[in-house]
Amino acid sequence: MYRKFIIFLGPLFLLLGCALNTVQSNNEIDFKVKQLLSEMSLEEKIGQMTQIDFSVIAAELNSENPIDQRKLEDAILKYHVGSILNAPQTPNNQAQTVAVWRNVLSSIQAVTGQSRLKIPVIYGIDAIHGATYTKNSVLFPQAINMAATFNTDLSFKEGEITARELRVAGLQWNFSPVMDLGRQPLWPRLWETYGEDVHLATAMGTSYIEGHQGDDFSAPNKALTCLKHYVGYSFPINGKDRTPAWIGERMLREYFLPTFEAAIKAGSPTIMVNSAEVDGIPGHANYQYLTTILRDELGFKGFTVSDWEDIKRLYTRDKLAANEKEAVKVAVMAGVDMSMVPFDYSFYDLLLELVNTGEVPLARIDQAVARILTVKYQAGLFNPPKPLLPEAENFATELATDTNRQAARESIILAKNDQHILPLKKSANILIAGPNANLLSVMNGGWTLTWQGDNESLYPKDKLTIYKALQNKSLGKVTYLENSVLDKQAALEASKNVDVIVLCLGEKPYTETVGNIGSLNLEATQIKLANAMLATGKPVILIMTGGRPRIITEQADLASAVILGFLPGMEGGEAIADILYGDYNPNGKLPISYPRDTNDIVLYDHKPIETYESNTYHPLYAFGHGLGYTSFKTSDLKLASDKFNMGDSIELSVAVKNTGLISGKETVLVYLNDVAASVTRPSRQLKAFKKVELAAGQKQTLHFTLKPEDLSFIGVDLKRIIEPGEFKVMVGHETATFMLNKP
Ligand code: BGC
Repeated sequence: MYRKFIIFLGPLFLLLGCALNTVQSNNEIDFKVKQLLSEMSLEEKIGQMTQIDFSVIAAELNSENPIDQRKLEDAILKYHVGSILNAPQTPNNQAQTVAVWRNVLSSIQAVTGQSRLKIPVIYGIDAIHGATYTKNSVLFPQAINMAATFNTDLSFKEGEITARELRVAGLQWNFSPVMDLGRQPLWPRLWETYGEDVHLATAMGTSYIEGHQGDDFSAPNKALTCLKHYVGYSFPINGKDRTPAWIGERMLREYFLPTFEAAIKAGSPTIMVNSAEVDGIPGHANYQYLTTILRDELGFKGFTVSDWEDIKRLYTRDKLAANEKEAVKVAVMAGVDMSMVPFDYSFYDLLLELVNTGEVPLARIDQAVARILTVKYQAGLFNPPKPLLPEAENFATELATDTNRQAARESIILAKNDQHILPLKKSANILIAGPNANLLSVMNGGWTLTWQGDNESLYPKDKLTIYKALQNKSLGKVTYLENSVLDKQAALEASKNVDVIVLCLGEKPYTETVGNIGSLNLEATQIKLANAMLATGKPVILIMTGGRPRIITEQADLASAVILGFLPGMEGGEAIADILYGDYNPNGKLPISYPRDTNDIVLYDHKPIETYESNTYHPLYAFGHGLGYTSFKTSDLKLASDKFNMGDSIELSVAVKNTGLISGKETVLVYLNDVAASVTRPSRQLKAFKKVELAAGQKQTLHFTLKPEDLSFIGVDLKRIIEPGEFKVMVGHETATFMLNKP
């Protein structure tokens, strides 16, 4: 039975959003922007909307100075470009030293200083798990791992450290965080997301933004974030990158918009557009998403930037426009403020023609440019340059590296541990095998030192692979089986004198479309290797690294222990060794459902119909799963009342006890279910979580507050509503119910 009474929450959220939006321009900036706009020529305005790749201003390869001065002057003095992106070194953009970055940015500044209006360039970079394009920076676990920590403090610190390291090099605009939800495990960008859940992704992403930007992103140690990829990009129906998503408006509002809405409220001043299409409309042509929803509804005040070459692609790929010029018109009129062109000045030339012939109104140009200039003022880019943060105290510090190691430790999931085979004794003799045993790239993934992250030779020599880290800690013998062994006899031979086999499988790094696959199945040679090792009768510890959950059902069943490492970053090897030897008690939890079979993609917040009759939610490992070397028990789930009025907050408490023998961390997850509603509701949805550290035997009572909007959903008429009736709160094995009444 569904309830008839509904409350409309939209206006309330909108008001809240505006009040909390810290990037709203103040009067002084508004005034300066108006003044500057009035002095700008049309060419100068359109230049501001143009973003080019570094290659456009690059010197010949192998030149001492990465910039070609003449090309740079062309870009800034002739085309008035407002923004440049990416690292030097083409065709493979590569991490540069702090010194090179400082030179690059000061060379650009010097030329903008010669321009008529001296408008600074805003330089964008993908610093998605630390300052990825700066050599020796602190490179964190990727977002999927950060989500597995369920530790918002760590996400905040990652943001803080990334911003500081960017600023040391003179960089200031980061194309991160990804606020797309990871609900399609085939998608090769799953690892860039904070997993499948709205609440978790919101909590991790907003904490990252707060750490990265602080209260004022113009501060010398803070930098701007850019939300990606608005909106619906992450849910391609066929799992391939940059292919169509079919997302109805209810699903969009229920799952894919809330993370962006929260991140806008957290103050992110820029947004990158979805590079693919939703419901037949490419992201860059979607007026409803880019203007009606983003501006009018969510109150976003910053600027939007296109993704890579995507305005052109409205013509060259999507055939939404009949030619490139029409593509420019469609995108600009839909609400794209800046074009990541990125290799030429076609956008500039075409938009100029479009305005001169009246096909794009000047008012729209002024609007886009005002937004860009406002962000530039807010970022302090117009202020006289200040000395950059000194490298020694601010870049790759010991403290930051320790934080990274802690993030890596908390991001690794112990999924299976039969008969407490782990932790291993340090005296154990180990055979370590598998293609992912002795590489750093497999733990870092894409956007590490290069775009694809796959150039192992560029990786720092002082960071440890899983093999090296085990070897470092071991008091026994660690033998590395470099070549793959595919038959049982050879495996028996290799494992003759060992106590345990550590088998490192998974994926190689990839970024974007390069990572497209047709199936989640693990490659055949890895399966053969695993089966040969499992047939030896020696206990096998299976360690998976890589960006996606590849199917390991049969192998995991036979293995004694399974560790899901995903992409734990530069300290991943050490963190895995810490866990294997019990120097760290693991506490990571899965931020996604790990499928049992390649087509068995059911998410934890499934609808009742997905578990009806013969349907089941039966992943290999469920969302939230993760073991440790101690045990925890939750009990005494109590609600402040069993009746609440609509509009009330729901107070609840639950006790958590460390029932094991060593101290450890536990994340308590609070799920909610709306028992009957006018639109089918998930069987459970995460609404709150807390991570605590408890000594052996220690018990603590945790308090949670569910806000009215936590009880809301997108109703029949596509508005966010709350309906009265029965709700269930679930924590651990306990359930408590309450009635929500109309006041
Ligand atoms: C990706 C973005 C990235 C941009 C700039 C695009 O191909 O989709 O996530 O920020 O390139 O490197």
